[in-house]
Amino acid sequence: MNPKDFYQFVQDAFQTDEFIPLHVPIFKGNEKVYLEEVIDSTFVSSVGEFVDKFEEQITEFTEVKKSVAVVNGTAGLHICLKVVGVEKSTEVLTQALSFVATANAITYCGATPVFIDVDIDTMGMSPKHLNTFLENFGEVREDGLYNKKTNKRISACVPMHTFGFMCRIDEIVKICNQWNIPVIEDAAEALGSYFYNKSAGSFGQMSTFSFNGNKIITAGGGGIICTNDEHLAKKAKFLSTTAKDPHKWEYFHSQLGFNYRMPNLNAALVLAQLEMYSTILESKKSLFLAYDEYFNGTGLLVKPPKGTRWNHWLMSIRLSNLEERNQFLSQTNEMGIMTRPIWNLLYKLPVYSNCQKDDQKNAKHVEERIINIPSSARI
Ligand SMILES: Cc1ncc(COP(=O)(O)O)c(C=O)c1O
Repeated sequence: MNPKDFYQFVQDAFQTDEFIPLHVPIFKGNEKVYLEEVIDSTFVSSVGEFVDKFEEQITEFTEVKKSVAVVNGTAGLHICLKVVGVEKSTEVLTQALSFVATANAITYCGATPVFIDVDIDTMGMSPKHLNTFLENFGEVREDGLYNKKTNKRISACVPMHTFGFMCRIDEIVKICNQWNIPVIEDAAEALGSYFYNKSAGSFGQMSTFSFNGNKIITAGGGGIICTNDEHLAKKAKFLSTTAKDPHKWEYFHSQLGFNYRMPNLNAALVLAQLEMYSTILESKKSLFLAYDEYFNGTGLLVKPPKGTRWNHWLMSIRLSNLEERNQFLSQTNEMGIMTRPIWNLLYKLPVYSNCQKDDQKNAKHVEERIINIPSSARI
């Protein structure tokens, strides 16, 4: 592909000759109105009606039973892991092809990630590789499932929906149920994606979404925990609210808790964004169709896996090899178009270099070829 030609196409698509970022937030709804309302009310912190409203609306949007708004997606993952019983010196099965937050949340619990390979089409955890890992290393003992190799208890599994593409979450949940492993869906990137008409974030025992500035809708910084188990939701709210026992004036914290609640200010912003969701999605779909036409016949544009509905969050192309990838990255960035490689596989980072992993053949294949291209809504 000719980078100059691509540059011209992207400039035309975004109707600008200035620098084109990967994903910018768009504030064209009630954002300012709601923010002013919050400021006037003085309820700018973690108690306020926008937090409650946002939790209710996400519950409805994702068709789960309960949602708990938190300061960011990483904090959400941390709380979920704590709630399902991820303890110090245990292990959590996840994927190396992810943003570092997935593994960091595990590490914050004192647990260790174990990296399972991904499928090439979904770029999310491969059920086949998960199954093979459990067949090879899983051992059911009286007090739980253990990894025969490390002698550590396996306390959870965290698959991730890359760029909003759904991983084979139904099979993953099935396998984890067989082995009695709680599933926490890292749905940070997947608000509004579906696997056969069932929303991302509604499959695992618990899940989290992120509303960071680069996500499909943003709270500035923010996240939410979703679950179909009201008891787990209650625990999540308790732990994210400094584990304070409910009382009108007493400060009694019966456990070590976290100050992770989403402030009302952020909830106001993201609630206005949620109202704009379908407009944003439609605009992103039209961009994807334009890319599809542009790349027609080349096979370069990465398409969502079959049987899923994609939120079109971050678009990408798949080049033939690392050399071609690097060349395209440097040429486009030099021209003023932001393109980015997918993440470095997490076991390449110093903190995760000693973690157990399977052969990671698919993850390496994806890492060497995938480039994200400008994906902002054009409204
Ligand atoms: C896959 C994944 N997991 C977790 C997170 C963490 O979310 P946050 O940035 O809101 O902490 C992000 C995004 O930033 C993400 O992309």
